[in-house]
Amino acid sequence: MKDLSPRREELDPIEVASIDEIRALQLERLKWSLRHAYDNVAMYRARCEAAGVHPDDLQSLSDLAKIPFTYKDDLRDNYPFGMLAVPRAQIARIHASSGTTGKPTVVGYTKGDIDVWADLMARSLRASGLRAGDLIHNAYGYGLFTGGLGAHYGIERLGATVVPMSGGQTEKQVGLITDFQPDGIMVTPSYMLNILEQFHKQGLDPRDCSLSVGVFGAEPWTDAMRREVEAAFDMHAVDIYGLSEIMGPGVANECVETKDGPVIWEDHFYPEIIDPETGEVVEDGEMGELVFTTLTKEGLPMIRYRTRDLTRLMPGTARSMRRMEKITGRSDDMIILRGVNVFPSQVEEQVLATGGLAPYYQIELYRSGRMDAMRIMVEAMPKAADNLSKTAAARMLGKRIKDMVGVSCEIIVGDPGDVERSQGKAKRVIDNRSLGET
Ligand code: DLL
Repeated sequence: MKDLSPRREELDPIEVASIDEIRALQLERLKWSLRHAYDNVAMYRARCEAAGVHPDDLQSLSDLAKIPFTYKDDLRDNYPFGMLAVPRAQIARIHASSGTTGKPTVVGYTKGDIDVWADLMARSLRASGLRAGDLIHNAYGYGLFTGGLGAHYGIERLGATVVPMSGGQTEKQVGLITDFQPDGIMVTPSYMLNILEQFHKQGLDPRDCSLSVGVFGAEPWTDAMRREVEAAFDMHAVDIYGLSEIMGPGVANECVETKDGPVIWEDHFYPEIIDPETGEVVEDGEMGELVFTTLTKEGLPMIRYRTRDLTRLMPGTARSMRRMEKITGRSDDMIILRGVNVFPSQVEEQVLATGGLAPYYQIELYRSGRMDAMRIMVEAMPKAADNLSKTAAARMLGKRIKDMVGVSCEIIVGDPGDVERSQGKAKRVIDNRSLGET
């Protein structure tokens, strides 16, 4: 793989500033952001008043712990525009996340917010090893989802050429990649596997294609998956993290030279890790729930927003700013099986480590007697799809899961193509526990 590390003079000065400089900038911006939210959003003012705190109480960054949290439900309760801090007419763009139940979560951006977003996405792409003049295939979905347009404006800001492909039409994706010869691709990691399969279907060797970097995010993916995709395409695979409520893609991005967890762009977002049960802030290095406060957002400032994503903060390496560990999962996705916590990402690691299995999987939860049970659907590689190999793979995966979580589960090894393919964000868990015993 090519060395794509950016040169130091290509970086924004703040990316390599001293920690003191970064903290001073954060404090100044945090004071502005709290004030802005308090003065312009009724919900924030009411929350602070109820808790007996005021933006003026913030004298140091650690004082932020006194300010109340914000939750996804707050956005739903104030649907659609109740949490905007500027008049709706000053909002240049709206995005929304579908959500599985109820009303979508609506977010709004001023022209200034969109400008910052494009800058941070361009910074993220540079960290990924892409640069001006490159051609980038953008397969994140366009529309209300922040992925497509967020990436699009960043690619343009970088000075690169964007192919606004969006998601779906996998055959055509492969056709365009073959014809246009892009340097980079932006897509969810699970959909990248779908594209990989299509290469094989068309009799093409993905290692011969032009791609040198994939910028993958919008869903959890493991280092095992990174190795799989890097080997299959002979390209770098880097992690991009973000969420609509805070901005969209580009809140944090991994550096291609280290690939050691996304760097949080701390000049615009202040991260905290809390104990999800008690709400107490924990030390850097400890696992917990990621909480973000926006430092410069005008349209929709977010104060101590509970992301539900589980990770830990780590010191800077390739940049001065802190990194987050690759996300293991969301607290919503955590499976509690007979008292043991299991994340889909742990299952992913074991599937990828089991010989003869393709990298596709889905987990079904169901009731067995009075107990919760887990069934894992995987599929055999085309060359190992005979009954003997399938039985051996099922036994091996079952043992690996048992060794890892101490709980037995049912393994179904299907034929190639049996597991549902992702079209964007993969649905890893199907919860049938309310259906009764199956
Ligand atoms: O998924 C924004 C995005 C688009 C990020 C494209 C990266 C690339 P939402 O739809 O609001 O926004 O979903 C946000 O997705 O809270 C995480 O649970 C999950 N997520 C996003 N990036 C990652 C990642 C976009 N790199 C939610 N690793 C977040 C693990 C991720 N989970």
